[in-house]
Amino acid sequence: MLSHIDPIKFSLNTAPGKEGALMVGLHDGQKIERHSLCKNLDQEDKSYLTHFAANLPLKNRSHAILLPGGRRVIILGLPPKKDFHVRKSLVAIRQIIQLARRERLESIIVAAEDYAPLSGWSGNELLERIAEQAELANFEYNLYKEKPKEKDDAPVFVKKIDIISRTKGKRAEEAIKTGQIIGEAINSARSLANTPGGEMTPRKLAAAAERIGELSGVKVKVLDDQEIKKLGMGGVIGVSQGSSERPRFIILEYMKGGRKEKPTVLVGKGVTFDSGGLSLKPSKYMYDPCMHMDMTGGAVVMNVVGAMARLKMKKNVVALIPAVENMPSGSSYRPGDLLKTMSGKTIEVANTDAEGRVILSDALTYAQKFYSPKLVIDVATLTGAADVAVGPRFSAVLSPDHALAEKLRVLSEKIGDNVWPLPLWEEYEADIKAPFGDVLNVGKGNAGGVITAAAFLWQFIKETPWAHLDIASRMTAGEDDFLAKGSTGAGTSLLLHFLRKF
Ligand code: BES
Ligand code: ZN
Ligand code: ZN
Repeated sequence: MLSHIDPIKFSLNTAPGKEGALMVGLHDGQKIERHSLCKNLDQEDKSYLTHFAANLPLKNRSHAILLPGGRRVIILGLPPKKDFHVRKSLVAIRQIIQLARRERLESIIVAAEDYAPLSGWSGNELLERIAEQAELANFEYNLYKEKPKEKDDAPVFVKKIDIISRTKGKRAEEAIKTGQIIGEAINSARSLANTPGGEMTPRKLAAAAERIGELSGVKVKVLDDQEIKKLGMGGVIGVSQGSSERPRFIILEYMKGGRKEKPTVLVGKGVTFDSGGLSLKPSKYMYDPCMHMDMTGGAVVMNVVGAMARLKMKKNVVALIPAVENMPSGSSYRPGDLLKTMSGKTIEVANTDAEGRVILSDALTYAQKFYSPKLVIDVATLTGAADVAVGPRFSAVLSPDHALAEKLRVLSEKIGDNVWPLPLWEEYEADIKAPFGDVLNVGKGNAGGVITAAAFLWQFIKETPWAHLDIASRMTAGEDDFLAKGSTGAGTSLLLHFLRKF
């Protein structure tokens, strides 16, 4: 499932041609006449531009200019080169694309070096990031809006970007293609997550996975409620039983790493709508924090596997998505219920709103039983506590292997899909001891909600290397993200870069 926005047409050149708007990222202290996008301007345009830019207030501001020769130029003020780190660079790329869209420019020219951070990326990585971030900034979820009658009121999307770069050649072209595929995978995950709950049921999430399979050549298998029951997945059945929408267990397999390599299994939470169940959420916690996006983890992992196939990566990777709707009704699971999971352990339900961990427990068992994975990573909008703990700029990462969590953190900083580690110790197991079952689905008290949720999952994956991404805090974009409102697709980029690298 690619996103509903057309992919951008990228080209790579050493100097700007005659057509297309010039998008100048001007660092504080940099002279516009020396900028690589202005070199080939004729004398009249050049002196006009130099004169115009001479006393412009540029700090994070932008200016649109029409040159005497008819060419459009946008200048975006950027911080001085000495302060220009990776985070600022990623934002600047998204800003420049959004500026182009605001100025209704479909064909633009950018200079790669404008976005080169002080350190952290190679020349090819820079090109890859530009392509990835440009696709992200060119996305908007507008499928349910009426088409404006006037063409001038319709949103504009960038169609063509000419990147002026010192790094060129086949590897550079490939880097752009790779960044674009990653960007498209993120946008596809955003599209699915943004889809309203009534239109994104477990069945439709499974259909989306099948579509990804068709487009990428990944093998997709979908288990229905009978098969789920037969496997003994009492967690998935328990959470789903209050809804008239039947659960699905979605499996995507991409096995191009040879028969000897143990696969990495990605597990994604697929709660297509989280009302809280009988422990019903107050209205304020259902609409505003977008509980139809509670399947983001599932959307992320299916798109990661799809993108791996498009990138022709030589790896074995599986995505597992338990998909359910969490609803209150006469047939709902109840607080006090004891659910027998596929692992044999029973879950005592204290709160039906802590449903994510319940369905994920069965998926973790399934992963170990059928794939003997070398590593399992789960991605879930698991706890509101993630937002309290790390705030909206990070997802939380937890693993009993703290070195693995740190590896993910370091990588996340390079690509902007940021995660920050929280501790995970056996001591937390005391907080999820159940009076009658083996594990309780909420921690005692409110303390460390992200950690007790992770400690719960850990009970089902003690023997296999594992990391957990709680992306609840990054589920939707914030003001300073320079992304369209709605889903961020958090985790997609990090997992793809991680799988490429390790
Ligand atoms: N899906 C929610 C977590 C969530 C909240 C994600 C806000 C994104 C934004 C999850 O199923 C949930 O309801 N968790 C409860 C757990 C509690 C009952 C222990 C929570 O966070 O309040
Ligand atoms: Zn919930
Ligand atoms: Zn949930």
